Amino acid sequence: MPTISQDKITLRKGDDFHLHLRDGGAMQSVLPHTARSFARALVMPNLKPPITTVAEAEAYQKRILNALPERSVFCPLMSLYLTEKTTGDEIRRAKQSDSVHAVKLYPAGATTNSESGVRTLEALYPIFETMQEVDLPLLIHGEVVDRDVDIFDREKVFLDVGLLPLTKEFPELRIVLEHITTKNAVEFIEAAHPRVAATVTAHHLLLNRNALFEGGVRPHHFCLPILKRERDRESLVRAVTSQNPKFFAGTDSAPHAQHAKESACGCAGIYTAFGALELYCEVFDEAHALGALEAFTSEFGARFYGLPLNEEKISLVKKENPIPISYRMGDDFVVPLRAGGNLKWRLEERD
Ligand code: DOR
Ligand code: ZN
Repeated sequence: MPTISQDKITLRKGDDFHLHLRDGGAMQSVLPHTARSFARALVMPNLKPPITTVAEAEAYQKRILNALPERSVFCPLMSLYLTEKTTGDEIRRAKQSDSVHAVKLYPAGATTNSESGVRTLEALYPIFETMQEVDLPLLIHGEVVDRDVDIFDREKVFLDVGLLPLTKEFPELRIVLEHITTKNAVEFIEAAHPRVAATVTAHHLLLNRNALFEGGVRPHHFCLPILKRERDRESLVRAVTSQNPKFFAGTDSAPHAQHAKESACGCAGIYTAFGALELYCEVFDEAHALGALEAFTSEFGARFYGLPLNEEKISLVKKENPIPISYRMGDDFVVPLRAGGNLKWRLEERD
């Protein structure tokens, strides 16, 4: 049980079940931000080229472990990038490996580095069959990519044309609909069979689509799936504070170099790893639901993935905490969410 007073909460250290760490110098820069407040993170495989085999995932995991600051205890959980060439043997190898915990499906063209993704779900039914048989979770970027579907409807349409048939065809397959953004997705997950869950980001809990155009175009609020309406945001807050184990934390912290976002064709992704736990805490506090935070950050996801709960405790205090205008990221800079503003909570650092 968490201990909670008005301005301090102590809870079990949690896990970020959806994180982009990138590689090389960029990874070296952003990794300490997550390792500070989460015990484990499920690392997304959309590198260039993508991580499609267990051998690549294991090598990537080693690079992450080698990049950790000294004395930092953090476990990267790896995922494979599903392509139309993925084999059943690779799925079985993934299940056997201690490193790989899930397989990620990107519809081709849906988002950053998704070119090697999947064009038709049906082509992958034999792979889903194997994943169901060995019980390896399928993580889905749930958006259709058809140009004639409005960008704000892409998640909703995917629920009907992609996810619903999939959950019917594979009732035992563990599925995570990643970074959900709509009331429709909340209702879908609530109604689906118990093996279907969802991650929710801090930015989709804090912002609605007005944030994209506050006084001008705001590239640092552009992510995919794109921010939605206020009623969608409210529905997400209700879902995560409802103590339903189908909804758990996955930040989708997605760092891009400042110049790549502040551009005529800026990349999708919001950088939150520097303060994701504090931001989640703010959401739960403002919803008068601090008592539900620990289950969301530290229990439901671990249970879904069959992992032990972390033993370590951490504390957050309600105290303003300034956010820099940028962080160094390799040879570049990354602009964090709410750059130059404040976090409302602060992690108590250990001696
Ligand atoms: O905004 C996003 N950024 N959405 C994604 O799905 C990918 C991510 C990235 O890798 O930058
Ligand atoms: Zn992502």
